[in-house]
Amino acid sequence: MYDGGKIVVGLVVFIGVVTFPLWYRQASGEALRAPEPKIVTDAKECVAPTDYMRASHQAMLNEWRDLVVRDGMRVYVAFNGQEHEMSLSNTCMKCHPNKVEFCDQCHNYIGVVPYCWDCHIEPKESN
Ligand code: HEC
Ligand code: HEC
Ligand code: HEC
Repeated sequence: MYDGGKIVVGLVVFIGVVTFPLWYRQASGEALRAPEPKIVTDAKECVAPTDYMRASHQAMLNEWRDLVVRDGMRVYVAFNGQEHEMSLSNTCMKCHPNKVEFCDQCHNYIGVVPYCWDCHIEPKESN
């Protein structure tokens, strides 16, 4: 009825499968390197505090899109009092024109591919 041996074997196999990505990368010598998005602008601050941007920029972009498209608003007053046009290409990509070294660094790492560039103009890489 109750077979402890089989349970243990099952558990070992299960843990092996679940942690496979970790030990496989270590065994194959591929480092678990966190993405390092490169800041190229001379500006010191983003349109919101860095922690907020890191965690919630996608929500902010949705909010900006809705405000522009539904409410016809265009100006965003940032936390530091600076005014910005609420625009993906004209604002975010002005300070972060290095999409490959910046946005894609993180997105490739976690495997998201925002579809925004089907319509919005992607910056021409300057570097
Ligand atoms: C005025 C220039 C400027 C604009 C406009 C701007 N950013 Fe930034 N952004 C920065 C700077 C400078 C930093 C780094 C701040 C720091 O080091 O604390 C940054 C940081 C970030 C980060 C965090 C990066 C990290 O290392 O974790 C994200 C994500 C980000 N920006 C996305 C965006 C998006 C999306 C937009 C448009 C909604 C935008 N930024 C608009 C200048 C800008
Ligand atoms: C510090 C890492 C980091 C940087 C830099 C970064 N992103 Fe992201 N981005 C993420 C993460 C993590 C997610 C997924 C969040 C989630 O699934 O909730 C994401 C999701 C998004 C999404 C939503 C995509 C979807 O399919 O849900 C958009 C749009 C986006 N990012 C735009 C940008 C743009 C534009 C830039 C460059 C100006 C940028 N991001 C830079 C980490 C980053
Ligand atoms: C099917 C085409 C299409 C796709 C895909 C798309 N957009 Fe848009 N977006 C538009 C159009 C059209 C407007 C209105 C342009 C205007 O009024 O300036 C707009 C406006 C916006 C605006 C405000 C105006 C501006 O200049 O940026 C933001 C922000 C925005 N979209 C973000 C996004 C983000 C983030 C994504 C991806 C997650 C995305 N959009 C995907 C078509 C698209």
